[in-house]
Order: sequence, then C-alpha cells, then structure tokens
Amino acid sequence: MIDWNAYLETARGEIESAASAAALDEVRVRHLGRRSELKRALREVRDRETGMTLNAIREELEQLVAEREGALVQEERLRADETLDVTLPGKRPRRGHLHPLTQICREVEDIFLGLGYEIVDSREVETVWHNFDALNQPLTHPSRSHRDTFYVDDDTLLRTHTSTGQIRTMESRQPPIYIATLGRVYRRDTPSPRSTPNFHQVEALAVDRGITLADLKGTLMYFFRAMFGPDREVRVRTSFFPFTEPSVEFDVTCFLCAGAGCVFCKHSGWFEMGGAGVVDPAVFENVGYDPDEWSGFAWGLGLDRIAAQRHAIPDIRMFWENDLRVLEQF
Ligand code: DAH
Repeated sequence: MIDWNAYLETARGEIESAASAAALDEVRVRHLGRRSELKRALREVRDRETGMTLNAIREELEQLVAEREGALVQEERLRADETLDVTLPGKRPRRGHLHPLTQICREVEDIFLGLGYEIVDSREVETVWHNFDALNQPLTHPSRSHRDTFYVDDDTLLRTHTSTGQIRTMESRQPPIYIATLGRVYRRDTPSPRSTPNFHQVEALAVDRGITLADLKGTLMYFFRAMFGPDREVRVRTSFFPFTEPSVEFDVTCFLCAGAGCVFCKHSGWFEMGGAGVVDPAVFENVGYDPDEWSGFAWGLGLDRIAAQRHAIPDIRMFWENDLRVLEQF
C-alpha cells in the first residue's frame, strides 16, 4: 500500500525546491508522469472514494507545478534584468544632413531675408507665356526650340529659368516688390562636368519708384560679399537679355587667387556669375504695370556652380549621383 499523504508531501517539497525548468520537469515526470505511482494507481482505481482522493492529489500537484513554472520564469526575468546595464550608451541612429545644394539655397535665402526681401515659391511646370512671351522673348529665340527646352505640350514646358517667378509675382500683386525665388530649372543639355539638364537658379526682383542700375550693383555687391566674403569685387559687363534694358552680366573675383589669376579661374581672376538688368518696360506692360511709374531691376544666377566652387567639386554631376562618400563630406 502506498502512503498517499507521504507521496503528496514529498512531491510538494520537490516541486517547491526545483531550481530550474529542467529540474521541475524531472519532478513532474516522477510524480505526475504516465509511469508515476500516482498515474498507475489512477488507472487501477475501482472505487469512487479512492478515485476522488487520487484525483485531488493529481490536481493539487498539477497546480503546484504550474505555479512553480511561473515563478521560475519570473526569476529568470529578474536575473536578466540585473545583467542589463542601463548606463551603457545606446545605438546612435545615423543622422543625415542637408544636401550641399540645399545648404546653398538656405544660405541664399538667409541673405535675401536679411535684405528685407521675401522668398516666394514658383512652379516648375510653366506656360510658354510665363517662360518666354511675358519676358519679351522673341518668337525666333533659339531657346524656344524643342531641342533646347522640355515641352509637356505646345503651351506647357519645364521652366528653363527662374525668371518665370518674376512674371508670376507681378501678375498677382502690385509694387513695391522685393522678392527672391529659388528652385529647379530644366534645359535639354547633355550632362557634362559643368552642366546638367536639371539645375538650380535664384532670381531676384525689385520693383519700386526710381530704381536704377546703381541699386542693382549695390545689391549684387552686398549679396556676393555676404556669400563669398567681404573682400570680393563684383564687375558688370554689358550684355543682352530680352527682359532687361540695359542688361549686364556680372562676375565675382576668384575665391582662390582673389583676382590675381590662377588655374581655377583660367587666369582671368574672375568668375562669371549670372545675368541682370533694369526691367524692360515691355515686361511691365505684359503684367499690367505702368512703366512710367515703376522701375526695377532683376537678376538671376545658377546655384550649382556656386556650390561646386565653394567645395572645389570638379564635376557638377557629382551632386546628382547620391554617392554618400561625396555628400557626407559637406
Ligand atoms: N534668366 C537668365 C538665364 O537663365 C538669367 C537672367 C538674366 C535673369 C537677366 C534675370 C536677368 O533676372 O535680369 O540665363
């Protein structure tokens, strides 16, 4: 005869002192497994009373095993917690930074904001009117050709310059106007170290009473000294643009040799920067301004070459290749 009280006592003690999941499993097999004395006895039960006693023992032991199992898991977790050192440095997320072209755009915007100009956004998909006609561009001008410009349809194109922003602004408000607009422009050029079919320009427009070429030159000088340093000189040369009269192109002294002449500026001492001029009366008429009342200047220049110069990047296409080894340096 088995002493079931003693069986229960022993099993209780062993379950309680099982120190690991494996040890607990051993105890469970010994006292509750198919070949345990308890299970064998249960299979041979003939009378109701013995059945009830043995089943009560089985139930209690099963419950104790389950409880001990839970306690062991909990202990395991606590042990793991003790080995977690919360003072260790975490894994730092990789932080990106602004693309060098975006950096230049932000800088240019800052300079204009400092001058009291407003930065306006304009669209990249434009009408032929805003890109050419309103800017007094003659119908015969070669840049209108499908070989030079990306057309969406006969009346719609990807803007070839930010001068479209002048028209958009003047169409929607009255002078005085002091705005700059920056963004992407598109031309059907074959990519080369000095040009890509998609590049960036900034356009400035001032419309007020009594504006002269002197205001234009003063603004350019201020802009380039803010951009490249206080020692820079600016020179303007006569030129032609259909939307300005008179028109000029402007250069800045080379940042490497300060004008003395070096390989970088091809021994000229100067860098060509962009075009400018006094707004042509025909443009004012196209947007409904009275050219006798209002006067203004405008200028535009490419930003990609400035960024390339600033970082001594020999090939503008590198800005577009998204090679992190290049971009991460700036
Ligand atoms: N839009 C001209 C270009 O892309 C640059 C330019 C010249 C802008 C003269 C102007 C300007 O505002 O007055 O080549």
